[in-house]
Amino acid sequence: MMSTDFKGMDVVSIRDFSREQIEHVLRLAEKMVPIAKGEERSVMLEGRILGTVFYEPSTRTRLSFESAMSRLGGKCLGFGEPKVSSVAKGETLADTIRMIDSYCDAIVLRHTQEGAARLAGHFARKPVINAGDGAGQHPTQTMLDLFTIRKEKKKIEGNHVVIVGDLKYGRTVHSLSEALAMFGAELTFVAPPNLQIPKEHLKAIEAMGHKPKISSTLGEAIKDADVLYVTRIQKERFPDLAEYQKVAGTYRIDMPMLKDVKPDLIIMHPLPRVGEIAPEVDATPYAKYFEQAFNGVPVRMALLGLVLGGLK
Ligand code: NCD
Repeated sequence: MMSTDFKGMDVVSIRDFSREQIEHVLRLAEKMVPIAKGEERSVMLEGRILGTVFYEPSTRTRLSFESAMSRLGGKCLGFGEPKVSSVAKGETLADTIRMIDSYCDAIVLRHTQEGAARLAGHFARKPVINAGDGAGQHPTQTMLDLFTIRKEKKKIEGNHVVIVGDLKYGRTVHSLSEALAMFGAELTFVAPPNLQIPKEHLKAIEAMGHKPKISSTLGEAIKDADVLYVTRIQKERFPDLAEYQKVAGTYRIDMPMLKDVKPDLIIMHPLPRVGEIAPEVDATPYAKYFEQAFNGVPVRMALLGLVLGGLK
């Protein structure tokens, strides 16, 4: 049995966590909700400093980490854009991380390169939390996604989750699909053939005894879905923009598409969306993506409390 003592631990890949450990985070996150909403106050992380180091654009991930830290009485420093730091002068990731490590108690890193968070973990003495490493992983997003499914559906196990969009470059999907398999959800992957789920993840899922369905069309899968997880085609990861143009706009969830869905379907999206979900869908009871984004705050509060040692 793996420990639920996370103090000092790096959060790099969802594979670093057992189901029991993730459930522990989700349970603690539930207790954080009133603090995340500002209804209750906490000084659990008073005097602690979080470094937020973002080499790629972010709205939700960085600001929800900052909100989480502030709500627990802690403070943040860092940058949301490498151009304003010495990265622009050519400083290496190793040196940047070594410096920030000495100014704070934990580091949240988003980087363009797969493996960057693991590397940063070697140079930092303090815990490093991966907030997205290129087309690699996004473990904290997965935890908030699981939190959302559990909140809306009462359990994760047994739900049919249809994941649609850019499954090749989409890091949120890489972490989420493996975690969903671990929790016993049924999976269908819908993507254009050249953007399907990478073999590495498929193999890991199959090794857990699952046989996910693979498709390039949404029509049939959507009718049987309990959860529809929509993702953006990751334009910035395409080596050739012409290749992106060929697949841009392949899937769009609009009102006619929702005609025959289960009445209790939930639609999720890690956001930002760039046309995959029509705005009319926002007013339907299926739409849960804004709640999902809020859930990032209590989940990240729980994680920060655990790695900084305020929570057990
Ligand atoms: C995602 C990301 O950065 O991987 N955003 C997020 O963290 N919520 C999804 C995306 O950019 O499409």
